[in-house]
Amino acid sequence: MMKRRDFLALTVASAGVSTLAAGTRASAQTAPSALRASSPGGVLTVEAGVDGDGRPTYSVSRLGRSVVSSSRLGYLLTDTVALERNLTAVAGPPITMDDTWEQPWGERRFIRNHYNEWRVSYTEKAALGRRFDVVFRLYDDGLGFRYDIPEQPGLKTVRIAAELSEFNMAESGETWWIPAWEWNREEYLYNRTPIDRVGSAQTPMTIRNESGLHVAIHEAACIDHAGMNLRRSEGRNFRAQLTPGLTNAAVVRAVPFVSPWRTLQISDSAAGLIDSSLILNLNEPNALGDVSWFKPMKYVGVWWEMHLELKSWNSGPKHGATTENAIRHIDFAAEHGFGGVLVEGWNIGWDGQWFANGSDFSFTQSYPDFDIEAVTAHGRARGVQLIGHHETGGNAFHYEQLMDAGFALYERLGMHAVKTGYVADAGGARVAGPDGSPVMVWNESQAMSQHHVRVAEAAYRHKVAVNAHEPFKDTGLRRTYPNMISREGARGMEFSAWGQPGNPPEHETNLVFTRLLAGPMDYTPGIFGMKTRAPDGVATTWAKQLALYVVIYSPVQMAADLLVNYEANPGPFQFIKDVPVDWAETRVLNGEIGDFVTIARKDRESDIWALGAITDEHPRVLDAPLDFLDPGRRYRAEIYRDGPDADWKTHRESIVIEQREVTSVDTLTLTLAPGGGQAIRFVPLGRRDRT
Ligand code: NOJ
Ligand code: CA
Repeated sequence: MMKRRDFLALTVASAGVSTLAAGTRASAQTAPSALRASSPGGVLTVEAGVDGDGRPTYSVSRLGRSVVSSSRLGYLLTDTVALERNLTAVAGPPITMDDTWEQPWGERRFIRNHYNEWRVSYTEKAALGRRFDVVFRLYDDGLGFRYDIPEQPGLKTVRIAAELSEFNMAESGETWWIPAWEWNREEYLYNRTPIDRVGSAQTPMTIRNESGLHVAIHEAACIDHAGMNLRRSEGRNFRAQLTPGLTNAAVVRAVPFVSPWRTLQISDSAAGLIDSSLILNLNEPNALGDVSWFKPMKYVGVWWEMHLELKSWNSGPKHGATTENAIRHIDFAAEHGFGGVLVEGWNIGWDGQWFANGSDFSFTQSYPDFDIEAVTAHGRARGVQLIGHHETGGNAFHYEQLMDAGFALYERLGMHAVKTGYVADAGGARVAGPDGSPVMVWNESQAMSQHHVRVAEAAYRHKVAVNAHEPFKDTGLRRTYPNMISREGARGMEFSAWGQPGNPPEHETNLVFTRLLAGPMDYTPGIFGMKTRAPDGVATTWAKQLALYVVIYSPVQMAADLLVNYEANPGPFQFIKDVPVDWAETRVLNGEIGDFVTIARKDRESDIWALGAITDEHPRVLDAPLDFLDPGRRYRAEIYRDGPDADWKTHRESIVIEQREVTSVDTLTLTLAPGGGQAIRFVPLGRRDRT
């Protein structure tokens, strides 16, 4: 990666350096201009500069059409004059970078990182003479920008009261968003409203403009920083709103300082948003090292039975995490080829008021009816890993004191994955305060962002990978910390167990184009027992449950239902057994936000492909051209489709399982029931023919 020093040298050497100073009041009438850079293919162009008051601004256009109108940049600080006016701007020429990197696991093996980096340097004209840069990385499918404050005498620490970055959407359109600042963190149903009806939204927030352009606003590489929400200030203008911190500053950092990237994925199709690797590309390469001890896997668990209240996390007659129940799950996993078994409620601490408290949890002591040594020994003998569970009740303060011992135990027992949990209201996480005693903070505060990195680092030292529920939102950190394998951070399947309401049929078609743009989700699909404690039960067909294994990406995928439901339905269960979890390639065949999507993925270990298509409450007929398959090769398509009478309201279990031979020149017609889906596995037949 280019070092800052190299860039300065290049700037000095360049004859093209231009300076834009704040003009007079009269010039404030005219839009800022002159400083401009484009993406490698010339698709996106950014203009940056200052307005008449020397306030930094930027705007974005795509193929000559405005996407983001002139929008402010800058910071309000808690202890000194704001960094937001009386500035001059200088920019060097963009620098092109083009490389390809390999993911240790993922939705595709190789990722091309091709962008133009463009640095706009702002200097205060007033006495303080402070400096900061705004660095843009321009891709053809989106852009990121971040603040970069170099070392300087007049600014040793930044204490950010507010970030002034704006996203002033040029065109009207529809928006898919979940509310910010609500108690249940990210676990809300999506709103679909005109842009100018959004209130305060979390990111990713996804927009479809009237012209058909799709824009998703999010952030990348949020490390040691508060998470960003968006507040609509007026019309179609959104302002960054940082999560509050421990003091009146949302973020306190020493200078030199770089902020997370503010990101815009921009595509003329909804599918293009999923194809984009912008968020990952804007994260730094692997900082941990080898993670080959983590193998992507499917798992079963002592879990859904608690959500259905058939068993309990706490001790007593209904206790789910017994040695016997765990061994039953291990034997089932071994028989059906699952890599792991999650057991929740194994450790002491669930009996009191654990929700939003967490201080009673032990991460080393199990309940007397759970013999962790015997269970893991049995698992080792049968080639199945126990997946650990660390519910913290949001008490990061308590957890940080005990987590190392917890990970050491897992390491000794050969357990390489843990599911963590932070069940507490959004403002009710606990961290160490200034005097070392616990204080409450928001779950996406700077302190919690530090916490999650500390957890990843501690877990890594013990060869443990982390799947966080109630997490800090995903900003692509899996590139830098590849043991951050998955997370929740949205309404998962558990809401279909007890939600009031549960997840409606459109929920997953919303998730794919919003939350899932941020990274993998432990959604826990695969439910066949459709009657639950939620009023509508599981509001999909069986075929859609199967399709979710392909549509929703995660390197750990749960077969979440009760084992008896799998034993009773070996036909559809076969797909869950067969579907891969780690992919060499991903193709999005079609999709519209909140309506439907079809995704095909190629196994990383073999030449098998899988396809998943899902719809909302409307039936659909979708074409799936199979041109992703190897030309000249024959495949057995193992098809799991909605039956003729399938409907999420009346016949969820109606499924047809059939096989046919296909090649890359075929196009399948996928008929999806209301709330339905289709799942297909393509197995190559014989040797590759010569072409
Ligand atoms: C919420 C998590 O999302 C769920 O999966 C877990 O079972 C409970 N918390 C208990 O930790
Ligand atoms: Ca949850």
